[in-house]
Amino acid sequence: MRIVLAPMEGVLDHLMRDLLTRVGSYDLCVTEFVRVVDQVISANAFYRFCPELKDAGAYGCTTQAGTPVRVQLLGQHPGYMAENAVKVVELGSSGIDINFGCPSKMVNKNRGGAVLLKDPENLYQIVKAVKNAVPTDTIVSAKIRLGYEDKTLAIENGQAVEAAGANELTVHARTKVEGYKPPAHWHWIAKIKNEINIPVIANGDIWDLEGAIKCREISGCNDLMVGRGALTVPNLGAVIKQESDAMPWIKVQAMLLAYTEFETHGDKSKYFPNRIKQWLKYLKNHYQEADTLFGEIRTLKTAEAIQELL
Ligand SMILES: Cc1cc2nc3c(=O)[nH]c(=O)nc-3n(C[C@H](O)[C@H](O)[C@H](O)COP(=O)(O)O)c2cc1C
Repeated sequence: MRIVLAPMEGVLDHLMRDLLTRVGSYDLCVTEFVRVVDQVISANAFYRFCPELKDAGAYGCTTQAGTPVRVQLLGQHPGYMAENAVKVVELGSSGIDINFGCPSKMVNKNRGGAVLLKDPENLYQIVKAVKNAVPTDTIVSAKIRLGYEDKTLAIENGQAVEAAGANELTVHARTKVEGYKPPAHWHWIAKIKNEINIPVIANGDIWDLEGAIKCREISGCNDLMVGRGALTVPNLGAVIKQESDAMPWIKVQAMLLAYTEFETHGDKSKYFPNRIKQWLKYLKNHYQEADTLFGEIRTLKTAEAIQELL
């Protein structure tokens, strides 16, 4: 079984990947999406999304803990997607993931993300262009939702991804219109999986061991992707794979301090107050202490004040 750490724009950046892969037994990380429009993106821009590329050596692009990191591209133009895929593979990415699930109005208006699910041909052309352009041993994966407004094209979209030569497919078990509203429709993942032969990774609403077992049963998938669950219980991968207990609060607290240290010294320090509050909102779903801490830092506006309190 593989547990993949989900791409989460504005949340799961390289610092969070570093912290979570140290404790979580995750097998793969996917970066926040990199938007491809009508040009080849500079190496520096790719490094901003995925600083791990800078150290990609003999073992490839990994976090400090050794977990492979795959860059996710989002775009609608097969040619530019292919050119950027080649570039990012040359920079060392552990494969390419293609985003067909982003629900953002702005992104969809510009014909990127989930809106492409309205016609399986879109997925086919993009995946095929990328797959044909990169070296044959490069893993190309796609991440889809069950559809845009409804699920009528769910299976065709999965088949299009496979026919275009993708190596694996992640399915977030909701339509674009369903947003993040529970429940995730895991049985729909099974419907897609039954019609294709590439590995399918099940995603959506996996928060604990019981949920993971149920999701695997219903979807028929071996592999799972977790996002918000890993921000709620940082070692969720180990909870699922090794049946470990959720890590104790004292260890989470040490992670919060390490995160603070990273974020306040890095180039993202201005985002730090919001980011730590955002993380605490997830953590408080499992840790009572996070709720108390959130109450204490809710009104603090500077990184220094939060750091002092921590
Ligand atoms: C804040 C946020 C940002 C996200 N950013 C991305 C992204 O950049 N690329 C992507 O494919 N999915 C993105 N997603 C979707 C997640 O990868 C995942 O599919 C979704 O959260 C369901 O999984 P979960 O229930 O385990 O969180 C994002 C989700 C959230 C909540």
